[in-house]
Amino acid sequence: PITACLFDLDGVLVDTAKYHYIAWKRLAEELGFEFTEQDNERLKGVSRMASLDILLEIGGLAPDEETKLDLAAKKNAWYVEYISTMDASEILPGALEFIQSLKERGIKVALGSASKNAMLILNNTGLTPYFDAIIDGTKTQQAKPDPEVFTLGARELGVPTESCVVFEDAEAGIEAATRAGMRCVGIGSPETLGRANLVISSLEGFTVDRLLGLQEK
Ligand code: BG6
Ligand code: MG
Repeated sequence: PITACLFDLDGVLVDTAKYHYIAWKRLAEELGFEFTEQDNERLKGVSRMASLDILLEIGGLAPDEETKLDLAAKKNAWYVEYISTMDASEILPGALEFIQSLKERGIKVALGSASKNAMLILNNTGLTPYFDAIIDGTKTQQAKPDPEVFTLGARELGVPTESCVVFEDAEAGIEAATRAGMRCVGIGSPETLGRANLVISSLEGFTVDRLLGLQEK
């Protein structure tokens, strides 16, 4: 049976993908090249340093490690500035309602995010108290598509991996869920998230009964 749901944060519960994009674009412009929304798709779900590597590859640049750490810190300072004024109005439509309905039905809720800024976002939006377990980028060694973030979540909840359903907006996250032996709901377009068990355009109107329907799959 399905007894737990694990949620990605950026792009699933909150619309922070736009802030990541603006900050990376600002860095690219400072380095002297264009960075488009299409390029940005490749960064979704990917860790900060891996994102920087992709960005630098797009710009055809190969700076040394120390410079890379400086660039990542610069991007993060801008990003933190953007998210520091976030509030509950930036929770994506339907996300809070769905989490509340899970709690009413006794289904456990965990966070499975690559971000090291997850706590700041959860606290600013008031989402923190809803989670039975929080696994973020400060607790993992391996980034998605490695399954670590989700297997740690299941362990902290005390549920078997096969009882978990993951909600993800990124390809890397869907692969991580699959490798963890979990079912996965993709949030976004079926073209990029085709490997999920179910793809929906948002959590708005999504119900626990529809979730439990995944048990047969
Ligand atoms: C993921 C985002 O959730 O977290 C990525 O989808 C981001 O875009 C990654 O790079 C790491 O986030 P942070 O906040 O630690 O730089
Ligand atoms: Mg995401």
